[in-house]
Amino acid sequence: MKKRILSGCRATGSVHIGNLFGTLKNWVKLQSEYDCFYEIADLHALTTNYNNTVEMKSNIREMAIDWMVCGISIEESTIFIQSLVPEHSELYLLLSMIVPLPWLERNPTLKEQIRDLNLQDKVNYGLLGYPVLQAADILCYKASAVPVGEDQLPHLEITREIARKFNSIYKPIFPEPIPLLSKSPRIPGIDGRKMSKSLNNAILINELPQITKEKITQAFTDPLKIHKQDKGHPDGCIVFAYHGLVNAEGIEGMKVSCTQGKIGCVECKGRTTILLNDFLAPYREKRSKISTKSIDEILIEGSRKAKKVAKATFDEVREAMQLWEWQK
Ligand code: TRP
Ligand code: SF4
Repeated sequence: MKKRILSGCRATGSVHIGNLFGTLKNWVKLQSEYDCFYEIADLHALTTNYNNTVEMKSNIREMAIDWMVCGISIEESTIFIQSLVPEHSELYLLLSMIVPLPWLERNPTLKEQIRDLNLQDKVNYGLLGYPVLQAADILCYKASAVPVGEDQLPHLEITREIARKFNSIYKPIFPEPIPLLSKSPRIPGIDGRKMSKSLNNAILINELPQITKEKITQAFTDPLKIHKQDKGHPDGCIVFAYHGLVNAEGIEGMKVSCTQGKIGCVECKGRTTILLNDFLAPYREKRSKISTKSIDEILIEGSRKAKKVAKATFDEVREAMQLWEWQK
């Protein structure tokens, strides 16, 4: 029996190269070794986007299609929609009883969100409970490991604390999941901030090559390099970071040319654009062959499979907590 892992992303739609290199490549690699459940977290998306749900369905479809384009195989892994498996929500409620408020209030990810989204005194109950819902996601599958980025470590720590507390109060039914950190560095957006669709600085897998070209043309580079002859500093340069993703062999040469003033930013951007578009071409080709109709069926099928596992765990939880049963 393979060990099980669970991971997920908030349902935000199309995948960008930051997701591809930071998360999806890691997920794809794990498929052969683990029994993988990959969740489209639409309920987590609601914690900040509750007042804008018109695009939710299309965001879910786009995300699922892009995951498959990036190499998630539905023969090996299960892709499912969080809200179609109500056991997540029910377990979330039960777990909320044993979570002390300070565990949630001190969460650094929440503090960051309050700052970035200007929420201050507008934090809703659901957002505060975000890590409890994430714990329910993971524990529903008794996942032994969770592939995540650095930024999710606080959430995973809360999951582990919740599992420990549950096990000691009721019955030891949950393994404590360990994080599987992806090694890839954080990929910046074209403006140098974290790459994110909502910041409008992302290069999408599924966009026209012309759009990718325009974005790279606008990307920030070393501000001290104005003329071709100026000696540049590639290490902080975004275009250089993109170049490294798609041209591992050529990267040292590019570095030398930049630092010695043998190449200018315009030419460097041009070369990077070509390489990146070439790299993305097969993904884009594959994308055009997946129909929306087939993706709906895939999501329903995956969610059914997920529900079976989650339901079995949830029944154990009810029993451990001595909740009433329909029949004996
Ligand atoms: N919080 C994660 C993110 O922002 C998404 C997520 C939801 C998740 N549920 C999860 C990740 C369970 C790992 C496991 O990316
Ligand atoms: Fe960046 Fe390339 Fe310009 Fe150097 S030449 S600063 S690597 S864009």
